[in-house]
Amino acid sequence: MINLKNVTFKWHKSDSSPTLNIKGLVIEKGEHIFLHGPSGSGKSTLLAILAGINTATSGDVTLLNQTLNKLNNTKRDIFRADHIGIIFQNFNLLPYLSPLENVVLGCQFSKSRQQKALSQSATLNTEATQLLNALGLTEQNHNKNVAELSIGQQQRVAAARAFIGNPEIIIADEPTSALDTQNRESFINLLFKQANNSNSTLVFVSHDETLKPLFDRFIDLISLQEQV
Ligand SMILES: Nc1ncnc2c1ncn2[C@@H]1O[C@H](COP(=O)(O)OP(=O)(O)OP(=O)(O)O)[C@@H](O)[C@H]1O
Ligand SMILES: [Mg+2]
Repeated sequence: MINLKNVTFKWHKSDSSPTLNIKGLVIEKGEHIFLHGPSGSGKSTLLAILAGINTATSGDVTLLNQTLNKLNNTKRDIFRADHIGIIFQNFNLLPYLSPLENVVLGCQFSKSRQQKALSQSATLNTEATQLLNALGLTEQNHNKNVAELSIGQQQRVAAARAFIGNPEIIIADEPTSALDTQNRESFINLLFKQANNSNSTLVFVSHDETLKPLFDRFIDLISLQEQV
């Protein structure tokens, strides 16, 4: 599903050492991965490489048999829209749109994801409503401006947007940082339920090691890069 080979990444050509240097990483279909590492170690950078937002400086990043670094920007954008749902560390929601509108936007750039969403519900709005309900955002909040929601509620909108149209890969960057312990576990259970429903592969980043036992596999970014 995901395969990294001899991947390095530098933010600037002149950087003396790369931000990331990964000999090898293989993630199987349907795996739930917990990616951990200190602040500044490159977790968000790695997720952006997996999502094709950043391109590896050297090496191959292959997802679903497509080598992302060999695609041009347009093809990479299409690949991302079709196959990857992303919950960003800062959510990247559009504040003056409603939760429903933000969730529908999640499949705006992908015909195949729209079709998948429409195979489950009569309209994209209905599918978005169901996802928001499933993630625990009550209907009275579905049509407000996103900016009026609490951070925890915005995290649920970001998750629903990532899930619309059942992408094969879900990438989540600190999606539970604003939730209390109890809400955190229930949010993760909802995340797993959605991921299992569509047999998605989940790559999840968090500082919170207490979440580790809930996942299939734990990857420490520092020790991953020490492998030779
Ligand atoms: N847009 C950017 N341009 C240049 N350098 C960047 C950029 N974004 C991140 N970096 C650098 O890359 C390194 C890794 O940053 P990254 O955001 O991936 O860390 P992180 O592990 O996600 O940290 P955190 O846990 O705080 O979110 C840091 O040294 C950071 O300064
Ligand atoms: Mg980060």
